Amino acid sequence: MLSGIQPSGDLHLGNYLGAIRNWAERVNEYECYYFMADLHTITVRQEPAELRKRSLNQLAQYIACGLDPEKNVLFLQSHVPAHTQLAWVLNCYTMFGELSRMTQFKDKSAKYSNNINAGLFTYPVLMAADILLYQPDYVPVGEDQKQHVEICRDIAQRFNGIYGDVFKIPEPLIAKTGSRIYGLTTPDAKMSKSVPDGCVFLMDSPDDIRRKFKRAVTDSDRENCIRYDKVNKPGVANLMNIYSTLTGKSMPEIEAEFAGGGYGEFKSAVAETVVSALSPIREEAQRLIADKAYLDEVYRKGAEQASYVAGKTLRKVYKKVGFYQ
Ligand code: TRP
Repeated sequence: MLSGIQPSGDLHLGNYLGAIRNWAERVNEYECYYFMADLHTITVRQEPAELRKRSLNQLAQYIACGLDPEKNVLFLQSHVPAHTQLAWVLNCYTMFGELSRMTQFKDKSAKYSNNINAGLFTYPVLMAADILLYQPDYVPVGEDQKQHVEICRDIAQRFNGIYGDVFKIPEPLIAKTGSRIYGLTTPDAKMSKSVPDGCVFLMDSPDDIRRKFKRAVTDSDRENCIRYDKVNKPGVANLMNIYSTLTGKSMPEIEAEFAGGGYGEFKSAVAETVVSALSPIREEAQRLIADKAYLDEVYRKGAEQASYVAGKTLRKVYKKVGFYQ
């Protein structure tokens, strides 16, 4: 199993419920590799000092969310040169046309129209290299990354078609519950750091969290009743989804629990549940961030383990394409 998150912003509740929490549960079934995709972040301009800081803080937060570095290989993408090395080779087995059709490329080139760089275009090729190096069976990702795993499969199949079975063909794994957490102020768009008012960060204080839930958009229907209706009441549905994911309660159970109560009462119940879930994570992450020597050692060991596995695949690829050994 392998997945990654870009250290391009602080981790938030959507990352935790949709991704990291599920990753931590797989540890006994799979050999797990999780990394911070710092190479991918520079397809959009980053502030160097911020990127450096977030790359370390994100590791602390992964661990605080339950990813035990003794049981999972945790590493920073730029520490393992095989990613960029394989990406170059795969570039030559990826078609201009298929990259032009990627929805994320189209979205990002519209959003960052003053910086449509080649890295933004070949982003999916680097991601394919990230994945294929480790020969994973599954790649847990959010719905928005499914197309990237699909192009990765296409590239791998094309390569295998020419050279024989070099790469295992990975399956995307889209989590069901909690896989899509929407912004608290924009229940039609996924929770994102770009809308900070509606985004609950893992490092937010309890008061910040309460304030954000207080301002969460519920509904304009003034019905003031807690009912799961994704189409007509997306704000309430999103809050119910958060509550359900954290408590394990079903939607009918939640409707019954809050029957007769209004939005205000419900919002503060969700806020308190989130505060209790995130407080231990925040405290543990703060403790780890203060222990830089420990985090550096986790990164060092992770890079060593990852390089070993990635190196095996890269050597095989170099040999197959005809690079003199
Ligand atoms: N593109 C992913 C995202 O933005 C991050 C990522 C990079 C990734 N390489 C990966 C995810 C490999 C899974 C596997 O969310």
